[in-house]
Amino acid sequence: MIKGKHIVLGITGGIAAYKSAILLRLLIKSGAEVQVVMTPAAKEFITPVTLSPLSGKPVVSDFFAANTGEWHSHVDLGLWADLMVIAPCTASTLGKMANGIADNMLVTTYLSAKEHVMVAPAMDLDMYASPSTQRNLATLAADGVEIIEAAEGELASHLVGKGRMAEPEEILKRVEAFFARKEDMKGMKVALTVGPTYEKIDPVRFIGNYSSGKMGFAIAEECAARGAEVVAVSGPVNAYPENPSIRIIKVESALEMEAAAKEEFKKADVGIFTAAVADYRPEVCADQKIKREATDEMTIRLVKNPDIALNVSKEKEKGQTFVGFALETQDGEANAQKKLEKKNLDMVVLNSLADKGAGFRTDTNKVTIITRDRNVAFPLKSKREVAADIVDMIMTHRAAADGVADEKNTAK
Ligand code: CTP
Repeated sequence: MIKGKHIVLGITGGIAAYKSAILLRLLIKSGAEVQVVMTPAAKEFITPVTLSPLSGKPVVSDFFAANTGEWHSHVDLGLWADLMVIAPCTASTLGKMANGIADNMLVTTYLSAKEHVMVAPAMDLDMYASPSTQRNLATLAADGVEIIEAAEGELASHLVGKGRMAEPEEILKRVEAFFARKEDMKGMKVALTVGPTYEKIDPVRFIGNYSSGKMGFAIAEECAARGAEVVAVSGPVNAYPENPSIRIIKVESALEMEAAAKEEFKKADVGIFTAAVADYRPEVCADQKIKREATDEMTIRLVKNPDIALNVSKEKEKGQTFVGFALETQDGEANAQKKLEKKNLDMVVLNSLADKGAGFRTDTNKVTIITRDRNVAFPLKSKREVAADIVDMIMTHRAAADGVADEKNTAK
């Protein structure tokens, strides 16, 4: 994964700088080409003489080489690199990065960086916890910098707390994860329905269900991580996705969800119906809170809600892939096949409530993915892993559909 990748390793002046030599060795052993860029203060903690033989390249620290006058171009470094990792990153460098103070080669390189940037902060616990460091970290995170959080442990001051730089092995894992990220959905639009719907009985009561939206949002996160532009039409849930690029349209009832979904799904390449829509709603919603004394018994007359997946899929166009879910307690695969046909879907993700760990309010799920030509059963996995399986299946399905379309065009 890392082989042949170009990495700028930024090192700043902290005790943890000695660990940068270990990180550098790990990156080189994994096959990366690494250019070390140090701040002047870093040289007080570890010398370029240790680092340049490890990387096989002269260390860059100044804007130009004092003896030859050779200019070190931070712009060229930014173009060369696939990734920049700053480890350790001191409070001072975090502050400069967050505020664009380009007074050394490292921060200048950061400001010209087009590539992804990771920072591994390291400092004393009080410095780490200080409002200004936390504000700078939040600013950098909002700017798209990946923060490799400091760990808890004994610090150089012998105080114990949060501030230790993440271990080099841990940082290597983050680097591997970065290069393993697929970007196969770049340029695609994905729309989802997520969570439950609430159907009002009166101003304070509703009919709802236990859906948490976790599975839907795990799929939304996966698609966004793979480069898609994602919009989720979501019923009331407690937790939303972390990725700020995911657009959320908050709705309450099935009627509101249908109206928003009709708008969003027609613009999408992939539409995924994960919501647990209430099939019925009270015919009328009382204007005032229904009083207990009023009657001994009460009957609420329910009327059918629209089938959102069915109605939206009627408008499905060539090139769009629509996926539904089926929650079944018996005859799962047969019922899922029926839903696939009836709702004009390309794929149905079946989860059976009979399976332990599957369904609502859990962090795991066990699914069978059903298309017109095959059924694939997956073992119990985390919802995030299930999301990756679903997205893989969608992309395989789309590639196969494109292949068929190409064959037809060639035959003509
Ligand atoms: N669905 C929907 N609107 C509804 C009901 C279901 O969009 N009013 C979608 C769900 O999001 C899911 C699929 O249709 O993707 C199947 O949902 P499910 O509840 O399993 O099936 P129903 O069609 O409601 O059938 P039944 O409850 O009778 O099994």
